[in-house]
Amino acid sequence: MDVRDLAGRTAVVTGAASGIGLALARACAERGARTAICDVDEAKLENAERELREGGCDVLALRADVGSRTEMSGFADRVHREWGPADLLVNNAGVGLGGMFLETTLDDWDWIARINFLGVIHGCHFFVPEMAKRGHPGHVVNVASAAAFAPLPAQSAYAATKSAVLGLSVAMQAELRPQGIGVTAVCPGFIDTPIVENSRLRGIAGEPETRERTAAFYRRRGYAPERVARNTLRAVQRNRVVAPISLEAWVLYYWSRFAPGLLGWVNGQLARRVGA
Ligand SMILES: NC(=O)c1ccc[n+]([C@@H]2O[C@H](COP(=O)([O-])OP(=O)(O)OC[C@H]3O[C@@H](n4cnc5c(N)ncnc54)[C@H](O)[C@@H]3O)[C@@H](O)[C@H]2O)c1
Repeated sequence: MDVRDLAGRTAVVTGAASGIGLALARACAERGARTAICDVDEAKLENAERELREGGCDVLALRADVGSRTEMSGFADRVHREWGPADLLVNNAGVGLGGMFLETTLDDWDWIARINFLGVIHGCHFFVPEMAKRGHPGHVVNVASAAAFAPLPAQSAYAATKSAVLGLSVAMQAELRPQGIGVTAVCPGFIDTPIVENSRLRGIAGEPETRERTAAFYRRRGYAPERVARNTLRAVQRNRVVAPISLEAWVLYYWSRFAPGLLGWVNGQLARRVGA
């Protein structure tokens, strides 16, 4: 799909009140798209809506929890009623969970799987059939993570959901190609957003000092969500199926493919340090 100029097109972005989702919504709006956004954080969603509207964008903002079938069905119905099928769907909403497997509760698993995996399924389920029926080129972006192919210790739950999103995306792109719909799994490395502040952190990872150290590491890394948005749209333009974003994501991508044993050994050393 040609995303250099999105005038007259419809973009849908979930989790668009903050971080990568907000940057992607801005990037779509700047290229002229009508932009539909959802989030569970109503105050931030309102700010995002106001900002996009003031920038001259046609915007539709709805509080919707991606993990809820009813709310995502309602969000999709509203977009279809007002604007018709989406041209670009970005399943971005997601949360972090840091902690060893032995510290992760079943409630944690339900929480993260519902948002990070079922949330993407809901986005695809409620928007893609209309895109396919219409028969124009379109594109689905599923925001996974470098953790999908290179899970670090203390990330088992997060990585499991992101690997699921990657697998789903690779399978979907083959199925949807005949309909002219591309699918990209975006796999960022460490991006400077409030994700750590919004994460559930267990065990040592949850101690205030460690939490602050982790958040500071993301800030220091300094890879802005705006760069993720630009590189994501470039990957869509090139119809890439897997799009590592940031240097560390590319390194981990090739490392996991060509030296998985070495990556496993390094992970083992890291796990011992983290406290396994
Ligand atoms: N920041 C990173 O380093 C990084 C790296 C790899 C992947 N990612 C992925 O990027 C995506 C965006 O994360 P971010 O870094 O911008 O974090 P963020 O916390 O800044 O943004 C996430 C947004 O999703 C929203 N959200 C959370 N649960 C939701 C739900 N149930 N329904 C709807 N909206 C919900 C939040 O309110 C927030 O606005 C996530 O899927 C995350 O896993 C982030």
